[in-house]
Amino acid sequence: MSDLIAQLEQLQTEAQAALDAAQSTPATEAWYSEYLGRKGKMTAILRGLGQLPKEERPLVGKRANEIKEALDAALATRQEAIAAEEMQRSLAAEGIDVTMPGRRPLLGKLHPTNQAMREMVEILKQMGFQVYDSPEVETDAYNFELLNFPPDHPAREMQDTFFTTTPDVILRTHTSPGQIHAMRHYAPEPIRVILPGKCYRNEDVTARSEMMFYQIEGLAIGRNITFSDLKGTLLNFANQMYGEGRKIRFRKSYFPFTEPSVEVDVDCILCGGAGCRICKHTGWLEILGAGMVHPVVLQNGGYDPAVFSGFAFGMGIERQAMLKRGVDDIRLFYSNDVRFLERV
Ligand code: DAH
Repeated sequence: MSDLIAQLEQLQTEAQAALDAAQSTPATEAWYSEYLGRKGKMTAILRGLGQLPKEERPLVGKRANEIKEALDAALATRQEAIAAEEMQRSLAAEGIDVTMPGRRPLLGKLHPTNQAMREMVEILKQMGFQVYDSPEVETDAYNFELLNFPPDHPAREMQDTFFTTTPDVILRTHTSPGQIHAMRHYAPEPIRVILPGKCYRNEDVTARSEMMFYQIEGLAIGRNITFSDLKGTLLNFANQMYGEGRKIRFRKSYFPFTEPSVEVDVDCILCGGAGCRICKHTGWLEILGAGMVHPVVLQNGGYDPAVFSGFAFGMGIERQAMLKRGVDDIRLFYSNDVRFLERV
């Protein structure tokens, strides 16, 4: 009996030394098979158990278990140490510095056109205007005729139209046709609506004009609406959009759907009116077209011009964004250059 225990203790010493010498996870696995595995040295020694007298077997068995447990524990410790060393080595080899700060993911944000559109909608909503959706694909009637552009009227040439293969169906050249949709929906109730959306013009693309751009249209119709209401609305808009204390000025103009018609300028947000590069030394920046709704248009919308009057205005959204943010080329908006989109 003492012979078997001596062999087991001898094995333990030898195994411990071999384990200390193991340098890798595979080496510790090989070590396990060699000493503790089913065909290992420990099993081989314990085969001698059968030849021992019955009463001696439990004692040897107990000692064998203690040694096995001790070796198992030593193996776990050694494997942990090796795993840590291997991690250290591979981090060093791959040049990974775990103390380096993480890389920030890029945050998305609203497109500059959308930012300007939302800002404008917010301002106009506060004045009681509600957003009314109207289609981008229109008929010639809505885009021109019902807005008092007679057929072959030269005013149609102000806007180069994209046609479709369906006769009379076109891409809208402005948001004004939405006026007719809104009026026909609500007449004879008074309305205050805004119509934001895309417009299309078959024009050469330059720093000042794109084939696709956004406008926002405003329309107010009621029983006692006058030009002063238009002035007050636009002055309030200019002050909220471009800063308190802004001045606006009206220049007479022509649009078939308004009478009288005006173009509206705001005093230059850069130089305050003194004259600079942005305002081309005039002190003023043009921001929109407007006027009192033409009686024919009121009638086409379903309102009796003897009872109702109204004002309308329309402006380019990119144009407002450009003025406000000092962008001098409209093409930047739709060329998907991330440097521009991040900056504006
Ligand atoms: N639709 C005009 C354009 O695209 C802008 C405009 C002018 C709209 C006067 C209006 C308005 O509602 O009253 O050039």
